[in-house]
Amino acid sequence: MSDNPFRIQRQPRDLRKQPAAIQAVDTKIQVNMSKIRHKIAVLSGKGGVGKSFVSSNIALAIASTGKRVGVVDVDFHGPSIPKMMGIRGKSLYADEQGIIPVDGPFGVKVVSMDFLLPKDDTPVVWRGAIKHTAIKQFLGDVKWGELDYLFVDMPPGTGDEALSIMQLLSNPTGFIIVTIPSEVSTLAVKKSISFAKTTNTKILGIIENMSYYECGNERHYIFGKEKGRKMAEEMGVPLLGEVPIDERIAESNDLGEPFFLRYPDSETAKAFLKIAESVLNIVEKGG
Ligand SMILES: Nc1ncnc2c1ncn2[C@@H]1O[C@H](COP(=O)(O)OP(=O)(O)OP(=O)(O)O)[C@@H](O)[C@H]1O
Ligand SMILES: [Mg+2]
Repeated sequence: MSDNPFRIQRQPRDLRKQPAAIQAVDTKIQVNMSKIRHKIAVLSGKGGVGKSFVSSNIALAIASTGKRVGVVDVDFHGPSIPKMMGIRGKSLYADEQGIIPVDGPFGVKVVSMDFLLPKDDTPVVWRGAIKHTAIKQFLGDVKWGELDYLFVDMPPGTGDEALSIMQLLSNPTGFIIVTIPSEVSTLAVKKSISFAKTTNTKILGIIENMSYYECGNERHYIFGKEKGRKMAEEMGVPLLGEVPIDERIAESNDLGEPFFLRYPDSETAKAFLKIAESVLNIVEKGG
């Protein structure tokens, strides 16, 4: 692995070799990120499997236990965290010290491109270099303060963008990989696992979303049964949880109310509380 060009450097980079302006930005990011105890990137090899839904609900579930939590939505083309957290329409403000994140439920601090878009139908047609600058600002210029957890809702896929985010998050704690139990998604997970290895970042576990649909007392396995569990075993990574399908999620999103708060007794909300417990166990007690 030593000749791997993408490998994340665990040691602080030798900043003396960089031009002063870049050096200042990098130092700022490192200082800002060092105040956050655990930085966790939520990843999926495939789009639309519920990565943003999972990121926002784990953040809320962990914050509901009293931890200080932040979420950074770096999906510039489809930023959906504010909608899922019920804070759409709020704006980001800045003062001399930096950008002030929006306060969500349980005091979760949120930064998303969505807060900067003037209209619902404004497309974000940014090129790579500008996106890279924006990501740097989200990490370095936002006043995150001292946090226990920062969840990063990654853009779909495992390309360049994902790679540069991992390089900027100095010392990330690990990845959470989201999948659904279908064959195509299983392949995508394998891709995510090799991406994690490439970036030399720990995989905290897999979450299987849309595992089943409960109707009366019957469970319907719409996309297949227990594939997440089998795959996690095969890959030697923990299965953090199985999240059922709930048709009320769309309704909550439309109403601008977080599902986790609107339906706290649902199996889906309870699944996130269990997942939060597993994540806290793995990260803080080492398993
Ligand atoms: N367990 C679930 N039950 C019902 N609907 C769900 C569930 N999980 C996610 N959804 C819905 O599926 C859609 C896709 O979810 P989400 O936007 O979180 O996926 P994503 O992986 O972030 O997508 P993208 O790749 O576009 O960023 C959303 O409308 C969301 O509300
Ligand atoms: Mg998303």
